[in-house]
Amino acid sequence: MNHAERLEIAPAARIQGAVRVPGDKSISHRLAMIGAIAEGTTVIHNFAASQDCQSTLECLEQLRTPILHTGSTVLVEGRGLEGFEVPRRQLNAGNSGTTARLLSGILAGFPFESTLVGDDSLSRRPMKRIIDPLRRFGAIVEARDDNYLPLTIRGGPLSAISFTMPTASAQVKSAVLLAGLQAAGVSKVHEPVATRNHTEIALSEFGAHIHVDAGEIKIEGRKALQGKEFSVPGDLGRKPLQGKEFAVPGDLSSAAFLIAAALCVPDSKLRLTGVGLNPTRSGFLSLLQQTGARILISQLAPTGGEPIGEITVETSELSGMDIGGSWIPNVIDEIPILAILGTRTRQGIRIHDAAELRKKESDRIRAVATNLGRLGAQAQEFPDGLRIPGNQALRGGIVDSFGDHRIAMAFSVAGLIAVEPVTIQDPSCVRISFPGFFEWLDEVVYRD
Ligand code: S3P
Repeated sequence: MNHAERLEIAPAARIQGAVRVPGDKSISHRLAMIGAIAEGTTVIHNFAASQDCQSTLECLEQLRTPILHTGSTVLVEGRGLEGFEVPRRQLNAGNSGTTARLLSGILAGFPFESTLVGDDSLSRRPMKRIIDPLRRFGAIVEARDDNYLPLTIRGGPLSAISFTMPTASAQVKSAVLLAGLQAAGVSKVHEPVATRNHTEIALSEFGAHIHVDAGEIKIEGRKALQGKEFSVPGDLGRKPLQGKEFAVPGDLSSAAFLIAAALCVPDSKLRLTGVGLNPTRSGFLSLLQQTGARILISQLAPTGGEPIGEITVETSELSGMDIGGSWIPNVIDEIPILAILGTRTRQGIRIHDAAELRKKESDRIRAVATNLGRLGAQAQEFPDGLRIPGNQALRGGIVDSFGDHRIAMAFSVAGLIAVEPVTIQDPSCVRISFPGFFEWLDEVVYRD
C-alpha cells in the first residue's frame, strides 16, 4: 500500500466471538535484544508480527547475531558480551523508538562505532533523553543537533551512574538498565512515576539481579504503581545472562482497539484470549471498569514472569473519564482509542499531563483532534492533552492516519461505531505494530 491508498471502514452491527491477541511488541523487542547479549539459545514463541520488531531483528543481524525466524517463533543465538561484531552498515531502526533507544543502551557497552538511523518520523523524535545518561556512563554519542537520529555511538568501558529519570519513559529506563548491566559498579535508576516494567522482568528471567525498592500507593483513591528505584549490578561480564524459552503474551495495546469497539457497538460480546495483563500496562482496563464498562478479566498463570489472562467484554454504558498524572505512562499508547471512546461516554473525557503524546510516531494530540473534527465531533486541544465532550455521534468522513499505526487503528474503530463509513488515508501503517489488524477485525465484526 502507498500513501495514496485508502480503506473504507463501514459501521458494525455487532461484534461477537473470540479472538487471540497477537504477541506483545514491547516484550518481543526486549526478549530478542536481551537474548542477543545472553549466552546460548533464546526461543521466543508468539513473537510480535510487527514491522518494528522486524527492525529490531534486522539490527541484531547487522551486529552478526544469528537469528532464525520461522512463523511466529524466533530463535536468537546469543554469544554473550563477545557476541556483537562491528556492523557492516548503518543500523536501521525504521519507525521504532524502542529499537533505537534500547539498542543504544546495549551498544554503549560495545567497543566499536555504530550508527543508528530511522525513517522520517523516528528522525524527528527526541533522543537527548538517552544520549545524556549514556554519555554519563562514558559512551561517546553524537547526534544531529545533539538530539536526533542519526546517532553514532562509540561504546566501551562504562562506569556506573545514579540517574533520576526526567521523563517518564520506559524506553529511557530500559536504555539505562541495559547500559548499567555493562558498567563497572552498581548503577541506580530512579523513576518518579512507574513506567512499563518489561525490561526488569525479562532481565530477571535471563538471570540478572536487579534490585527494586518499591511498593504500591493509592493515587486519587485508586490503586496505582508508584515510582521505583532500581539498583543494577554491572556484572554482566562476570555473570552472563542465560538464554531460555519464552511465550510472548498477547499485546493489550492491540487488544484495546477491539475492546473499545465491543463496548460501543450494540449487542456485542467478545472474548480475547492470551492477553498480557502486566499492571504497568493494564490501566486501560481499570479506567474503563471504573467508568462502568462490562469487562471481565480472568487471570491465568504468568508466562516468562508476565501476567496473562482472558478478557470478556460486552456493550456498555460509560460515564466519563479524567485521565492524568501517573496514569499517563500506563495508558500512553491507548490514549488515541480512549479519546474516541470519550465521544461515546455520558460526561466526556479529559486527558492531561500527556504532552509526551506529541513526541510519538505522530503528534497524537493534534492527529486525534483533527480527525475527530473531520468526523463532525468536538475535541478541544491543549498543549498536554484533550477535552472531548460526551454523547457525540460520529459522522462518517475521511481521516488521515498521519502515518501512525495507532491513529489508523483508533480511527478504524471510529468507523465501526460511526453512523456512516469512515475512510482512512494511508492505512497500511498498521503494519508497524499489527500487520493483520484489518483481517482480525473481520473475524468478529458483523455488519448485518
Ligand atoms: C514503549 C514505551 C513507551 C510506548 C512505546 C513502547 C516500550 O514509550 O509509548 O510504544 O516498549 O518501552 P516511552 O517509553 O517513550 O514512553
